[in-house]
Amino acid sequence: MKLKYILLLLGTMLLIGCSDKPADVIYKSDCIQCHGKMGLKSALGQSAAIGGMSAEAIKKALHGYQDGTYGGPKKSIMQKHAYSLSDSEIEDLAKYISNLY
Ligand code: HEC
Repeated sequence: MKLKYILLLLGTMLLIGCSDKPADVIYKSDCIQCHGKMGLKSALGQSAAIGGMSAEAIKKALHGYQDGTYGGPKKSIMQKHAYSLSDSEIEDLAKYISNLY
């Protein structure tokens, strides 16, 4: 009986650990410090204000940082932040950020 509950708990933890995080959680923990609350800050004086970008452009940028086809002089910084995002997380983040402002 007890074992069943432990297995259930472990299974739930595994599920949460592997599934995508919601866009607002990712943004607030991983992006906000450089891009600002509404995405209007020029990150490290280099990026465009991402809060004003279209979802399509944000998606393209994040995929581009992942495969090395997008970016300016400070792209290595963004590559670090983009590489662990899944396709569906990018999709959600792009929508979320384009609606920040
Ligand atoms: C340590 C600071 C930092 C963090 C954290 C960070 N960024 Fe960036 N971001 C930058 C910089 C610097 C650039 C411009 C890089 C370049 O030269 O291409 C940039 C560029 C971008 C761009 C493209 C904007 C443009 O100028 O074309 C997008 C979109 C973006 N970031 C989204 C995100 C998202 C989403 C996250 C969180 C997962 C994030 N960033 C986290 C610093 C950061």
